[in-house]
Parts: sequence; structure tokens; C-alpha cells
Amino acid sequence: MCGIVGYSGKGDAYLSVYKGLCRLEYRGYDSAGIAYPEKGDFVIIKDKGRVSSVLDRDFKCGSGTVIGHTRWATHGTPSAENAHPHRVGSVCIVHNGIIENYASLREMLTEKGYTFLSQTDTEVACALISMYYDLLHDPIKALAVAARLFTGSFALCIIFKEYPERIYALRKESPLLIVPSDGFTVICSDLTVPDFDFDSYYIPESGEIAVLDNGKTEFYDFSGKNIEKMAVSGSFKGDVHVSAGYGSYMEKEIYQQPQVLYKLFSESEEKYEKIKKLFYNVNAVHMIACGTAYHAALTASGFFERVSGIPAYCHLASEFRYGEFIPDDNGMNIVISQSGETADTIAAMRYLQKNGRKVIGVVNVPSSTVDREADLTLLTEAGPEFAVASTKAFTAQVALLMRVAFFISRDSKKPGQYLSTLVKTVKDAVFNALENSEYIYNVASVMSRNSDSFYIGRRTDYALACEGSLKLKEITYIHSEALAAGELKHGTLSLINDGTPVIAIITEETVKDKTASNLEEVMARGGEVFCIAREKDMPDCVKPGNRVILPDIPFPTTVFTASAVLQLIALKSAVLLGRDVDKPRNLAKSVTVE
Ligand code: AGP
Ligand code: GLU
Repeated sequence: MCGIVGYSGKGDAYLSVYKGLCRLEYRGYDSAGIAYPEKGDFVIIKDKGRVSSVLDRDFKCGSGTVIGHTRWATHGTPSAENAHPHRVGSVCIVHNGIIENYASLREMLTEKGYTFLSQTDTEVACALISMYYDLLHDPIKALAVAARLFTGSFALCIIFKEYPERIYALRKESPLLIVPSDGFTVICSDLTVPDFDFDSYYIPESGEIAVLDNGKTEFYDFSGKNIEKMAVSGSFKGDVHVSAGYGSYMEKEIYQQPQVLYKLFSESEEKYEKIKKLFYNVNAVHMIACGTAYHAALTASGFFERVSGIPAYCHLASEFRYGEFIPDDNGMNIVISQSGETADTIAAMRYLQKNGRKVIGVVNVPSSTVDREADLTLLTEAGPEFAVASTKAFTAQVALLMRVAFFISRDSKKPGQYLSTLVKTVKDAVFNALENSEYIYNVASVMSRNSDSFYIGRRTDYALACEGSLKLKEITYIHSEALAAGELKHGTLSLINDGTPVIAIITEETVKDKTASNLEEVMARGGEVFCIAREKDMPDCVKPGNRVILPDIPFPTTVFTASAVLQLIALKSAVLLGRDVDKPRNLAKSVTVE
């Protein structure tokens, strides 16, 4: 997935790139590096590890041109050799994405005498550009020819020895934005990077090359033809710092939920007016997403059907994009993504659009690819989410999908009742649920001492179980499975031993007795049973110390209180195990590769 930053112009290029890389670490953080031109050559500093351990913040390089990279390995393990920047001859590059045909290109280049120091596709791309540069002696021509030969996705920043003041860039699919300022220009994977005020920026499209030269930027297409490009208006004012009083971004983001949810439920209907036309005559809704965003779809879908009267189907984007199913004309498609940059989700959206279908994007990051390319976007407006484990974006997605259901409902009474309860209760209820820390701590301390765990629930609670279990795995590295409670007996019960923790979630009264019976079955086999429910829904079989009692507010507010508790269980377990909560191993926030 990787984050890239480049700086060209007057001012402190190194420090800007260093700070930008720190902000992009959510995209990957297994290795880092920078390069700059010096005395007709390049200086490259790179290694395995985080930005702050590979690079020295106080370093002074004296160059106005620096490119930098923070990596999430796709080709080759995290190591100094595989870290970016890569250099071949007069060319030095950083890359986000995958050059899919790198193996055949590598073979061809090896036959021509090129040797490779790394296992990456990126070094192959660098060698190909270098080969054409040596032949054509012109950076744009060399980049245009090479770009046409690459398949896959890529955002590349390139410096050429002979043009030390310029950064060249090209992109196909992977994100890249260019932010001009007074006498300098920054190129980056997203808008959290610039630490200066700006009111416009450029979005190089797929198939375009950019040249940054101090404060100026020029654009070309992949045939090498110069093109005119307008900057788009926009800025980014994000809170990118961990606030005092919180141990991690994740903790801060969990505690931001009461406010985020209140805002979503209390905002006016105006935002939803624009979807009215799209839902005319709709007979089914298809929700498409990955990971936690997929769980948000699952969590909302049952309630969505109940309130809107329209069937809702959930699809994993990574599967959907390779399927042969295209919803008919009367189906409405909603892709859900915190980052708006998830490669599989974008591919599913483009697949639908290519087949003439309309797509609504539910997105947290404005100006992201999904926001730009969806036929219509509804922003969750949860504010920037930096922890790899998604929390407030998840509940905001669920809340927004609920609001869509209210808006399009074919039953005029239901929405009003639900919405007014949610507006009245959600803020305090979620806050109070988070304050129940003594019991949450008890669950976390048992979880952190076990290597396996199970989450169960029925209907909406099954979706919440999936999300609670993913959250635990992601940041504690404890094996965990989520099951529809009625499915335990069909196989997985064989894994329950003395003391195996099983957490049940009950947010809906209608299924409480059934889930209680499943907990009895677990206890009969020695499992340690926990339950998250309101007092009145709590099964008698659960020991008092193992009960996490939710505020006594009815469904669907319980969806949000239970979600917050599940997130806190994962967080506290991870803290007890001494894990790096915000940056768990092997993962990245934004999954911009397949
Ligand atoms: C969330 O905790 C995960 N890190 C991950 O499952 C994430 O939700 C998924 O990659 C989808 O991301 P998106 O919402 O940015 O599309
Ligand atoms: N494919 C490149 C590598 O493995 C870039 C990876 C990415 O952008 O995720 O180094």
C-alpha cells in the first residue's frame, strides 16, 4: 500500500518529507526511506522499520528536492534492500502499487544485462525507466514508453540525476495528489501530508505524467503530449495529533464516537435529498465493501431491510469484482469505504459503472478515489481515522446506512420513531457503555491470556460478532472466530475446551433466548462464557463478573453501545499484551493493492 511524498522547491524539503511520511504511516510501515540528488548523484537513506527509526528528524540534507516512502511490502520481505527508494543508473524512484507484469519485464531486463538488488517489482520498474532514459535521453519520453508497458497499479515519483530540481511522477489507479504552494510543490498519497494551508491541488488522472519544478507543475499524457490541467479547489484541516489523555489514536477514535454518531443522527435530511432520484423504483440494495466496512454493511443490512422495506444484500468487494453477477437495473449499489482508496472496493465500483450501473459511495475521506468516482457520495464525516483498526468510521457507516433506510422507507411511521430515539439516546448511551470499564477489563484480561477466542450472536449480533472478532485479531494477534450462534453446534463446538473464552452479543431482544441456549451448550463443554447485553436481556447462565451490561436503551441504539464495548475489549486486550495498538504487525490502514 505504501505512502509516498515528494518535495520540490525552496524551503526545508527533508523535514517536510519526514513529517509527511510520519502522517502516511497508516498506509504501511514496515520500511522507510528517502532520496535526494547531490553532486551529480543520489543520496539514499533507507532501511527496514518505522520512519522515525530509519530517518533522523533533525537531519539536514540541503537539497530542495527529496522523495520519500513508507512501505507495506507486496513483493519481497521488509528489508533494507527491498525498502524504497530504488535506484538504477540515473533514475531513482518510490512506488505505491503493484507492477503486475514485473516478472516478464525482469526476465527481459536480465537478458539485457541488468542485475537486481531487491525482490521488488519497483526496482524492475526503475530499471525499465532507466533503460528507456538511456536510449531516449528525455525523461518524459522514457516515462511515457515505460508507463505504457507496465500493467497493474502504480503511483511513482521519480528523480533523474541530470534534473536535480525536478520530481517526475506518473500514476495509474494508485492515488497521487499535487499541492502547489509559494515557491515549492508537494506530491503525496493523500491530503494529510501538507503541513501548510492550501486551497487548491491537482489530481493527476490515471494515465498522466506530472513534472514538479520548484513552484511549477506541468502535465503530460502517456503518449508524451503536454496537457492542460486545472487545479481543484479544496483543503484539508484534520486533527492529526493524539490528544493528551489518550494512549493511542484508536482509543481517541473510540471515544469520539458519541459525538460522531450524534451528529450523523441529528443532521438534517438535506444531505440525503440527492439520493431520492436514484432510489426511484429500486427493488434491491447491494452493499459492497471490505473488512470492517463489509461488517458495517452486514450490521446495517437487517435493520435496513426492516425499515426501508427493500431487500439488502452484502458482498465482499474482493469477491464481487471477479464474479459474474451484475445487479439488474432496478438494484441500487452502495460501496462503503473509510479511506475511499481500497483497491478491491474501487474495482467493484468501476466494474458496476462499466456495466452501466449507478454507484453510491459511503466514504469517510473526502476527495478520495471513491468520493471522486462514485455517481454520488454520502460522507460519513467521522473526521480523520488514523488507527489501522477502524472504530468510529465503522459505527458512522452503520449510522449512515440507517439514515439512508429512514430516508427511503416505504413505511412513513417507522423512521420517525427510530430516529428520534437515536437522536435522544445515542450520545449518552455510547458514552456510558464506554465507562463500564471494570467489566470490560475483566473480559480483556481473560482474552489476553488465551490463544483462541470465539464471538457469537444472531442476526445483527452475528455481524457485530464478526467485527468484534476482527478487531481482536487485528490488534492482539489472538486467534478468533465469529459465528452465527446457531452454527456452533454444526462443527466449531469441537474446539471448545476448559476455559475457552466465548463472547456472546445480544442487542436484539427477539433472539435473546436462542443465544442463551447456545451459551449453555458452550458452558456444558467447559467454555468461559461472557455476554454483552442489557441487564434485561442477559442470560442467567452468565456469571456476574462476566456480564458487560449495556445501558438500558432499546435496539438499534444497542448496536452502537455493543460496538463500542467490543472495540474497547480489543483495545484493552492489546494494551495488556503490550501490542502496538495503532500500527499492528503486517497490516496497513489503506489497502490500495489487491
Ligand atoms: C479495519 O479495522 C481494517 N483495518 C480493515 O478491515 C478495513 O476496514 C478494510 O481494509 C476496508 O478499508 P476501507 O474502509 O478504507 O475501504
Ligand atoms: N510493490 C511495491 C513493494 O512491494 C510497493 C508496495 C505497495 O505500494 O504496497 O515494495
